[in-house]
Amino acid sequence: MYRHLLILAFRLTTCLTTAAKHSYNSTISNPILPGFHPDPSCIFVPEWDDTFFCASSSFNAFPGIPIHASKDLQTWKLIGHVLNRKEQLPALGETNRSTSGIWAPSIRYNNGTFWLVTTLVDDDRPQTDFSRWTNVIFKATDPYKASSWSNAVHFNFTGYDTSPFWDKDGKVYITGAHAWQVFPGIQQAEANLETGEVGLWTTIWNGTGGLAPEGPHIYYKDDYYYLLVAEGGTGLNHMVSMARSKSIHGPYQANPRNPVLTNANTTSYFQTVGHADIFLDSNGNYWGVALSTRSGPDYINYPMGRETVMTAVSWPKNEFPHFTPINGKINAWPSPKPHGRDIQGYIETAGDDISFAPNSSLPPHFTYWRYPHPEAYTISTPGHPNTLRLTPSALNLTALNGNYAGPTGQTFIGRRQQDTLFTYSINLSFSPASLNHEAGVSVFLTQNHHLDLGIVLLPAGSATAPFPGRNLTTNGTDGLIPMARFRGISYIPVPEDVIVPLPEEWRSEKLRLEIKAANMTHYDFSVGPAEEMSEMKTVITVNNAAVSWGFTGTILGVYCTTNGGDVRNGTEAYVNEWKYVPQGQFTD
Ligand SMILES: *[C@@H]1O[C@H](CO)[C@@H](O)[C@H](O)[C@H]1NC(C)=O
Ligand SMILES: *[C@@H]1O[C@H](CO)[C@@H](O)[C@H](O)[C@H]1NC(C)=O
Ligand SMILES: *[C@@H]1O[C@H](CO)[C@@H](O)[C@H](O)[C@H]1NC(C)=O
Ligand SMILES: *[C@@H]1O[C@H](CO)[C@@H](O)[C@H](O)[C@H]1NC(C)=O
Ligand SMILES: *[C@@H]1O[C@H](CO)[C@@H](O)[C@H](O)[C@H]1NC(C)=O
Ligand SMILES: *[C@@H]1O[C@H](CO)[C@@H](O)[C@H](O)[C@H]1NC(C)=O
Ligand SMILES: *[C@@H]1O[C@H](CO)[C@@H](O)[C@H](O)[C@H]1NC(C)=O
Ligand SMILES: *[C@@H]1O[C@H](CO)[C@@H](O)[C@H](O)[C@H]1NC(C)=O
Ligand SMILES: *[C@@H]1O[C@H](CO)[C@@H](O)[C@H](O)[C@H]1NC(C)=O
Ligand SMILES: *[C@@H]1O[C@H](CO)[C@@H](O)[C@H](O)[C@H]1NC(C)=O
Ligand SMILES: *[C@@H]1O[C@H](CO)[C@@H](O)[C@H](O)[C@H]1NC(C)=O
Ligand SMILES: *[C@@H]1O[C@H](CO)[C@@H](O)[C@H](O)[C@H]1NC(C)=O
Repeated sequence: MYRHLLILAFRLTTCLTTAAKHSYNSTISNPILPGFHPDPSCIFVPEWDDTFFCASSSFNAFPGIPIHASKDLQTWKLIGHVLNRKEQLPALGETNRSTSGIWAPSIRYNNGTFWLVTTLVDDDRPQTDFSRWTNVIFKATDPYKASSWSNAVHFNFTGYDTSPFWDKDGKVYITGAHAWQVFPGIQQAEANLETGEVGLWTTIWNGTGGLAPEGPHIYYKDDYYYLLVAEGGTGLNHMVSMARSKSIHGPYQANPRNPVLTNANTTSYFQTVGHADIFLDSNGNYWGVALSTRSGPDYINYPMGRETVMTAVSWPKNEFPHFTPINGKINAWPSPKPHGRDIQGYIETAGDDISFAPNSSLPPHFTYWRYPHPEAYTISTPGHPNTLRLTPSALNLTALNGNYAGPTGQTFIGRRQQDTLFTYSINLSFSPASLNHEAGVSVFLTQNHHLDLGIVLLPAGSATAPFPGRNLTTNGTDGLIPMARFRGISYIPVPEDVIVPLPEEWRSEKLRLEIKAANMTHYDFSVGPAEEMSEMKTVITVNNAAVSWGFTGTILGVYCTTNGGDVRNGTEAYVNEWKYVPQGQFTD
């Protein structure tokens, strides 16, 4: 008892002195995880050298559930992915619809183990269908080691956004968002995270009346159980609300000052702010993360989708917390001082200059759409040093019905767009031998939203225009010639296909394909001979509104397909000198 009192006294004094000492003397630049990193969940783990770890949603992207780590809350490194092997959760290979896949992971640390609770959603099934919601638990003792992450343990819940909480009596609860078309509400059940056994689900709060109460987390502080939720849907009305109770089971009383965080009805460039999580640093300061879309209230141009942002939170005793509103620059608590070993991870925001050297492996931030066929992506095959060889899939980026890709998959690999302005370019050696065989670069958002510049073998007569700066070199016959083709697929209006014959002298040469975001709203798609870049010509300039939609964010990458043709005769493509150059971040 005496010892406890001492500790309490010590804590009180530290608390008082820190409260007096700590002012907002650091700056956070948002987003902290630019590009497709929605639904963040973050923790602080003293046992791992005072490191912060964040997880985010990955939908159908694989590897899935990226983990980023930081010691100073300024520099974030990608340290790996929770979902890194097909055997962990084979069902990701079978999802339909681009809004399916991994929704909203919650990362937590308890007694030596990292836990990751999330939902694999089959979004083409009705919300009432129990099998639509595959709720799963992963665990790891070493989050840096891919093999440490377990296979999924399933648990039963008709909903999503599930989050674990350890009560002081040792009981563990999972809180989640019940399927809102069935009835919206936050539910909770006692759970065994090892086996996936769950008790009865009970509704603990229905939110303040906003659409789709979801993304719940529980925190215990000052003898209260605080419940944080997102409401209003993940669009412009998104917000964060809180309630609290003296008992984990409720009743939960709403914060009279809800919402605690939102940018709804503001003119901020950062919109859709919601789906938050809170964590404490070693100085005793609270921080919040949330998702946000850099779109302004017009909400038209936001190809990077929902990104991870951070802010300072003050949480006075016995009160609900106060969040500083989200902005591009936020005055915040002192940055924690890193100590111990450097974080072993990858800073993907630095850009790419990748040569696919012999014996190298693909960088950790490269991503596929669902599970890849690994043999379709080979580095430096004999006779082709410093290349990535792509073997074609019969299915193109749209695939069967724009939703499913079947077991044969799609040959596509890319990296997230992380900058408002950038240039992404590759060299392509590709000599298509049959009609419709194609390889190229894409701004890929979903199977129903992608902008592609490909080299494709087509009938001479299908050209829509001469190559820029050239006269039409086809002569009206039905011979097949390689064309540069722009094709845009979207629910939002996109330009017609542009099909231009490749100048004859380039047809057997290595080409350079480039996608450049020269401003906030448009991409330029260009092609030219790799050895003579001054000859590069822009084939089309396209509004990025066509890839501003839904839950994901754009991925820039390369693809190779027969567009439905027999792959046994397919032509391989060789990619090299992969460059992604960050050129500017718009934050207001
Ligand atoms: C911010 O304040 C802390 C003490 O609260 C101090 O250690 C740190 O150096 C200060 N940082 C800056 C940038 O002034
Ligand atoms: C996805 O759609 C395909 C084809 O329509 C179907 O065979 C498959 O069962 C569906 N997958 C799921 C998980 O519903
Ligand atoms: C913590 O884990 C250890 C073994 O790793 C176990 O013996 C102990 O019971 C656990 N403590 C709690 C509170 O779960
Ligand atoms: C999950 O719930 C369904 C439907 O209520 C039931 O049929 C099934 O047995 C449950 N599974 C487990 C593992 O409890
Ligand atoms: C939540 O709403 C449902 C009806 O949709 C109601 O049955 C339930 O009592 C409410 N629960 C709470 C905790 O308010
Ligand atoms: C934004 O304004 C609309 C219309 O006045 C209102 O319905 C909504 O509740 C507001 N949202 C927030 C989070 O204040
Ligand atoms: C690649 O690895 C193989 C086998 O490990 C080795 O024989 C070869 O020399 C390596 N090549 C290069 C370029 O490092
Ligand atoms: C294109 O055709 C026009 C007339 O047919 C000709 O005058 C011009 O020189 C040609 N340009 C090129 C680049 O071949
Ligand atoms: C016209 O097309 C035919 C058949 O593809 C080809 O043999 C011929 O070389 C072409 N002529 C020109 C001028 O392109
Ligand atoms: C971006 O560039 C395109 C094409 O040059 C132009 O039409 C558009 O207005 C520009 N957008 C902005 C925001 O400047
Ligand atoms: C994709 O391939 C199918 C055949 O599998 C074809 O009908 C469709 O036009 C192609 N779509 C795109 C966008 O390439
Ligand atoms: C492959 O191409 C050859 C000629 O180029 C053709 O004879 C053969 O039928 C094709 N095979 C398939 C499976 O398409």
